[in-house]
Formats: sequence, C-alpha cells, structure tokens
Amino acid sequence: MRILVTGGAGFIGSAVCRRLVLQTGAAVINVDKLTYAANLASLASIERLETYSFLQSDICNREVVDLAFADYEPDAIIHLAAESHVDRSINGPDAFINTNIVGTYTLLQAARTYYERLPLQRRKQFRFVHVSTDEVYGSLGPDDLFREDTPYRPSSPYSASKAASDHLALAWFRTFGLPVIVSNCSNNYGPYQFPEKLIPLTILNAIDRKPLPVYGDGKNVRDWLHVDDHAAALIKLLHEGKPGEKYNFGGDAQRSNMDVITRICDELDRIIPCAGPRRSLITFVPDRPGHDARYAIDASKANRELGWKPTRTFEQGLAETVRWYLKNRTWWERTRRGVYDGSRLGLLASQH
Ligand SMILES: NC(=O)c1ccc[n+]([C@@H]2O[C@H](COP(=O)([O-])OP(=O)(O)OC[C@H]3O[C@@H](n4cnc5c(N)ncnc54)[C@H](O)[C@@H]3O)[C@@H](O)[C@H]2O)c1
Repeated sequence: MRILVTGGAGFIGSAVCRRLVLQTGAAVINVDKLTYAANLASLASIERLETYSFLQSDICNREVVDLAFADYEPDAIIHLAAESHVDRSINGPDAFINTNIVGTYTLLQAARTYYERLPLQRRKQFRFVHVSTDEVYGSLGPDDLFREDTPYRPSSPYSASKAASDHLALAWFRTFGLPVIVSNCSNNYGPYQFPEKLIPLTILNAIDRKPLPVYGDGKNVRDWLHVDDHAAALIKLLHEGKPGEKYNFGGDAQRSNMDVITRICDELDRIIPCAGPRRSLITFVPDRPGHDARYAIDASKANRELGWKPTRTFEQGLAETVRWYLKNRTWWERTRRGVYDGSRLGLLASQH
C-alpha cells in the first residue's frame, strides 16, 4: 500500500511512519509543515529507505496537497497533522483554527477530488483515517467512560478545533461518500514526544532537578496509552475499520497527574539516585483554565470489531519511556535549548 501520512514528523505521526515502513512494508509519503513540534530525527530509522518520502508543506495549501495526491497516488491517508498542545491553544488559538479546522477541510476536499477520479476497484479500497482525541467529549465525572456515542462537549480551543474537524470528516462521509474513519484516542506517551507534554516535561525537569509543576491539585485523571499501541490501532483501523464510523482507543490506565509525576520521580531515583528524593521537586502551580477533570475510554468497540487492545501496562511503558529519554539526550537537548525550555504556558493574563 501507498499511504499519505500528514504530521509524520510529530510524536504519533513518526511512530505511525516507522511502523508502516518497517513492520508492514507499506510505502509512505509524509506531508508535514515542520512546526516547532516536528523533529525529523524521529524518522532517522526510515529516512533513507526507498519506501519513505517526505514533502514539507502546510496542509492548508490546497495546491501542494493536490500535487501530493496526483504525484503519489496514495491508497489511503492517515491524517495526524495538528496543533496539539492545549496550553498553546489558550495563548494563541489562531494556528489551531487554521491547521485543525481549515487544514482538515482542505485535506478532505483534496482527498474527495482525488477519490472521485479513482477507478472503481481503488475507490473501494481507499480510506481516510482522521486521527482525533478523546478531549472532544469534555470532562467526565468520577465513574463514567467515554463511548463512541458520548456527546461532544469540548472545553479548550484545542479540543473544540478537533471536535470541529471530526464533524467535518464525518460530514464528508455522509454527504460525499468519502470513506472516512474517525479515531478518538486518549492521552499518548512514549519515546519521541515533544517535551511540552506532561510526561516528557516531567522526565526532563526531574533529570535536570528542576521544579516539577503540578497544575491545580494534581487530581486530574487521564487514561494513558503507549504511542506504539496507538500506531498499531491506527493501522488496524485503516484495514478493518468501517467507513463512516468512530472508534475510541484508550490504555485502560487511568492515572491522576500526581500519580504519574510521583512514579517518574521514583523511577529516576531508582536508576540515578541523588541526594534527596525527586518528589521534593514537586511544585503546585495555578491550574489550567478550563482544565477537564477526568478522561477515561471505553475501548470495547475497538476490541470487539478490530481485535485491538493495548499490549503494555502503564507501569512497563512508563519505565521504558524514562529509560528512552535518559539514553536519547541528543534527540531532546537541542529542542530544550533552542525551541522550548519548559517554561509555563497557557495562563490567562489575570493568572500571572
Ligand atoms: N498526543 C496525544 O496524546 C494525542 C492523543 C489523541 C489524539 N492526538 C492527535 O494525534 C495527532 C498527532 O498528535 P501528536 O501528539 O503527534 O502531535 P505533535 O504536536 O507531536 O505533531 C504534530 C505534527 O503536525 C505537524 N503540523 C502541524 N501543523 C501542520 C500543518 N498546518 N501542515 C502540516 N503539518 C503540520 C507538525 O509539524 C508536527 O510534526 C493530532 O491530530 C492530535 O490531535 C494526540
């Protein structure tokens, strides 16, 4: 198969590209604008292979996207390109509206034009996998789970822009017959994640013995999924998902932010003990505006219909991730020095 991946220089996109090329034998063209969040070093293991190619472009650029479809003639598209950090969406929503909504619209239109010209047999096989988040469902109480039919109640500019893109994607299925499949996944963690998100930020700050910020009371719960399990889910979805349907993916690993942070401290203390326990670096900071209390996924549809389930426990995956960041300083040191130093994002002027 020839697959057009958008956002393949990002955290999840690079895991999808590596898996497609190295484990499934598919050919990939990665279309990525290379924003601050991109890192081409994440693709070092495949960048020289004939089955991998790269096109630097904004997905909002219809002309270039049309050319990519025409030249590459993909059998499918996995759309991951997005602005992805909630805190940044509070400080500057513009890029989120442009990339997540207008960019998805541009891709859907380009894919539709391309799809309508395909011969019947190739049209039957074509798929557009739209990668989204569980944050579109909003905040849960203490006991419920997000199901595919949970109503959308996004809280942040990020999740609202992703919700809009999900609605567009499914409308393109219902109105134009474009074979779109939508995935809504919980928080991912693992290697190659840009160190603005909770887990890599905490690991790097704890390595450097810097303060470990805890938003609010630290009791917010996320359902953590390892990025490789998510990449496997998306590839299964491409082959076995039903067009026009939504699928939830989660790690069955609900943990509070405080649990995650203390576990990272203890793991690092075990590997590189130092004078005092790293838990002493924990610092409570003002909460994120609109911070959702709890996310948790009911992934039974993916399990039943795709035979998918996560392969690691959170504790295994987190320990592996901590070791990965320790061993791969060159991957993140340049980013910490030149792109983002870990300082607080996403506060309103009144909170400073
Ligand atoms: N990280 C998570 O926990 C998580 C969970 C569920 C869903 N998702 C979704 O998965 C997708 C990937 O997330 P991620 O964490 O890998 O994001 P990321 O921020 O690590 O990477 C995003 C990539 O998209 C590229 N990009 C951004 N704007 C672009 C544009 N206009 N044109 C082309 N490329 C552009 C960036 O250069 C970057 O390489 C997103 O759609 C996100 O909403 C993420």
